[in-house]
This record gives sequence, structure tokens and C-alpha cells, in this order.
Amino acid sequence: MKAIVFTKYGSPDVLELREVEKPTPKDDEVLIRVHAASLNDWDWGALQGIPFVNRLLFGILKPKKQILGSDIAGRIEAVGKNVRQFRPGDEVFGDLSGDWGGFAEYACAREHALALKPPSMTFEEAAAIPQAAMLALQGLRDLGRIQSGQKLLINGAGGGVGTFAIQIAKLYGVEVTGVDSREKLDLLRSMGADHVIDYTQEDFTKNGKSYDLILDVKTNRSIFDCARALSLNGTYVTVGGSMARLFQFLLLRPWISMTRNKNMRILVLKPNKGLAYIKELFEAGKVVPVIDGPYKLSEVPKAFRYFGEGRHKGKVVIKVVITVD
Ligand SMILES: NC(=O)c1ccc[n+]([C@@H]2O[C@H](COP(=O)([O-])OP(=O)(O)OC[C@H]3O[C@@H](n4cnc5c(N)ncnc54)[C@H](OP(=O)(O)O)[C@@H]3O)[C@@H](O)[C@H]2O)c1
Repeated sequence: MKAIVFTKYGSPDVLELREVEKPTPKDDEVLIRVHAASLNDWDWGALQGIPFVNRLLFGILKPKKQILGSDIAGRIEAVGKNVRQFRPGDEVFGDLSGDWGGFAEYACAREHALALKPPSMTFEEAAAIPQAAMLALQGLRDLGRIQSGQKLLINGAGGGVGTFAIQIAKLYGVEVTGVDSREKLDLLRSMGADHVIDYTQEDFTKNGKSYDLILDVKTNRSIFDCARALSLNGTYVTVGGSMARLFQFLLLRPWISMTRNKNMRILVLKPNKGLAYIKELFEAGKVVPVIDGPYKLSEVPKAFRYFGEGRHKGKVVIKVVITVD
């Protein structure tokens, strides 16, 4: 089968399209003909072996898993003998997380990492959903405890997580402010954002406004600045971003929470938790993935370069199976 392979950490130039052996599913796994996959920050970090601490997971000197891609959608071709939920022919999607292998014609996945894809959802839409939509949902609902009538700010609103977060938040009847670069502000408005801020022109932590809930995808400001932008008893949830800032949050969060009546929370993703709910929202026409691309499998290095430049809107999607209508 064809796959995008990397044998050393580096820029997208280290990615190569190669012929490799088709994987064989273990007893608790299924073999999937991958139709589409999407890029996440998780892939971008693993490609470069950053942050360094993640090499404990990825491999210290060189990558242990040579095919990236954790969000996938495809059709099951074979099932291991202990698989109960799925049969060959089922169309599925999910986040394979640390198992990787999605930028290839075939991938193996454990059954708990997958859900049935609704027939009305394209493979590209399905591949765009798992990691980004779960981060948005878990950040807003589980950690943020979002409530009707609140004022919400999403920092980094034009990427994968943010475009899902705006749509989910609007279903709760909150007033949404989206922060991103100027080129993405029309997209944020079209997703339902009530207000937008161009971060190159305005610092949301210094404009005198306060928010009941902040979902931060970038975490590029100090914990003190973020706390200042929260109203009393407000909640700040960091999804990810600068390691130095996250470390600062880890150290100072209990103190800020105690002394300033602000809740400062750090999200640890539970892969695929909430996928069934997002599926329902999709089927009801309430949440739609924003797709940038799709790119072909051979164009994965180009897609990574584009992602790395931060120019993408929503999710960068790879279409592995090209169908002729
Ligand atoms: N908590 C967990 O367990 C977990 C698991 C997986 C991933 N993550 C995290 O989840 C996040 C993934 O988010 P994503 O997929 O939405 O990323 P993304 O698609 O790259 O989106 C990030 C957005 O932020 C914008 N941005 C860049 N600089 C900014 C600034 N200074 N202020 C405001 N916005 C800015 C980018 O636009 P421009 O570049 O045009 O400015 C882009 O639109 C990452 O932080 C990742 O580390 C967390």
C-alpha cells in the first residue's frame, strides 16, 4: 500500500510517499481502508519531535511510529477475532491518537477508537471531526460548564478547534467573541461569532472587557493577563499552546483560583469522548466541519507546510481515496 512515511524528526521535507506493507489487525483491531484523514497539531508536533518531552511517547532519537495521522475515516475491510462492534463494510471514523497510521491507504484501529459514520456525512467531513471537535466540546461543556447567557471568548477561533467551538457554543445561547488573524474574521462571523477581534490589532486581555468563559487554543498570554480578562467566578480553559505558558498555568493555577475567584482549568483530551453527541449535532444540521482542502495523499508534505504556516481555516483534510463520479 502507499503511505506517507518519516524515519527522522524534522520539517515536512522528511515526509516521503512510499510503498509499504499493508498492516494486519490484531485480535482487538479492525483493518480500515482509509478514505480521508485530517491534520492536527498533534501530528505537527510529532513530525518535529516537539515538545521534547513528547519524545518519551514518540521515540527519543527517531520516531517509533513512522506513519502519522490520527483522525481518520474509512471503510472496514477486516476485523480481528475479538471485535464485537463492527463488521467488514462498516463506514467508521475516529481519533487513533497514539496509534497513528492514518496517512496511508490502510490503517489498523482498536474498536473503541471508532464510531459508525452516518451515511449523510462525507468521509472528508468525518475525518475533520474527531480530535478538534472533542477538544471544543470537552473544553466548553465538561471543563468550561458553559451556560446560556454567558459571554464567551475563543482565542485562536479560526482553526480546527475554534470553528467547532463557535458552533457548539451558539447552541448554548452564549454571546461569542472569536479572536484570530484578520483573514479569518469573516469565517468566524459566518460560523456564528457575535464579535471578532484581530489579534494583531487588539489584545483581548487589555481591552477592558471581561468574559464569563474563555476557551484558549493558543495559550500565548500570561495566566495573570488571562485571569484579568475573566469576570468574577469566570472560567478559563486552556486547550493547548505554548509549553512555557502551560507550565506557568500548571504552577500558578491553584493560587490564582484561590485568591481571585477565577477558575483556571487545563484540558486533557479524552479521545473520542463525545463523538456520538457531535454525530447527532451533525445529523441535525447544527454542526458542520470547516474543511480546508482536501489534499491528495501524495500532497501530505505540502499540507503540513500550509498547516505549519498557520494559513489554514478550520481543518486541513487529506482525501486518500479519490473517487470518479
Ligand atoms: N489538551 C489536550 O489534551 C490536547 C490534545 C491535542 C491537541 N491539543 C491542542 O489543541 C490545539 C489545537 O488547536 P487547533 O487544531 O484549533 O489549531 P489550529 O487549527 O492551528 O488553530 C489555531 C488558530 O489560532 C490562530 N492564532 C495563531 N496565533 C494566534 C494568536 N497570537 N492569537 C490568537 N489566535 C492565533 C491561528 O491563526 P493564524 O495562524 O492565522 O494566526 C489558527 O487559526 C493545540 O494548541 C494543541 O496543542 C491539546
